[in-house]
Amino acid sequence: MLKKPEISLHTTTLWDYPSQHYGRESQGDKEYAGVTPSHVIWNLLQRYTAKKDLVVDPMCGSGTTMDVARDLERRALGYDLSPTRPDIFRADARKLPLETGKADFVFLDPPYSTHIEYSEDPRCIGKLDAMDPAYYEAMAGVISEVARILRPGHHMALYCSDSFRLKKPFCAIGFRLFGLLEQHFTPVDIVSVVRYNRTLKRRHYHTEAEKGNYMLRGFNYLFIMKKEVVASAGRKSPEVSPAQGQERVGKSPEGASPRGKGGFRRR
Ligand SMILES: C[S@@+](CC[C@H](N)C(=O)[O-])C[C@H]1O[C@@H](n2cnc3c(N)ncnc32)[C@H](O)[C@@H]1O
Repeated sequence: MLKKPEISLHTTTLWDYPSQHYGRESQGDKEYAGVTPSHVIWNLLQRYTAKKDLVVDPMCGSGTTMDVARDLERRALGYDLSPTRPDIFRADARKLPLETGKADFVFLDPPYSTHIEYSEDPRCIGKLDAMDPAYYEAMAGVISEVARILRPGHHMALYCSDSFRLKKPFCAIGFRLFGLLEQHFTPVDIVSVVRYNRTLKRRHYHTEAEKGNYMLRGFNYLFIMKKEVVASAGRKSPEVSPAQGQERVGKSPEGASPRGKGGFRRR
């Protein structure tokens, strides 16, 4: 059996991950369609949060963010329209039952167009095609709600992919969502995360892409943003300096060392 490599902080803006999960346990559910690689969340929480911080995921699917947050001794709060387990609260990400400024970090991995059927709920944003302005209106509502719940001086991250379908126009979801984020936050960084979708393993997908002269999605964007502290005169002033941010980077706690087996459903 192959041993999983030690999980570590990425130091460039190109993030690759060796497995869907780290450690003996799994984070979230590898069988959940659209699950987020837990390495991505682990790296974000190591950099932008401290122990006991409140980490919120308003579209938390199988709960990957909550599991990583608890591993790192952060407090976790997860919402979804279609909760998959009892510790996830049912809520629309556009109207969260959380007080303003309570979250120390927010992670978002929304549906990107209609590629996956998440639930029957008509409010599910995965029912909106990214060709339709309604998708961006819905996401504008989610992002504005994230801006409301996030504590000033703190960070959020959004993970997403562009959308391409044969015989349809390319949808630059990433750039469009980045534009919406910029209305509320200051950009901190843009990371490209290597994608390991199951379809990418199928040889004929690659043959067809060559024949048709198009490309398969090979990466996801990870936008890292900060909510500035707005001074009373309307000026923006940072609350957390980059140096302080660096101090938050800690060692992997016990239990987070990658040793066991575990699923390998990478997205
Ligand atoms: C890409 S998945 C999230 C995956 C998750 N990070 C994980 O690792 O399992 C997107 C999630 O958004 C949820 N969702 C879609 N529309 C929503 C809405 N309006 N409010 C809350 N959740 C929503 C879906 O139910 C789905 O679970």
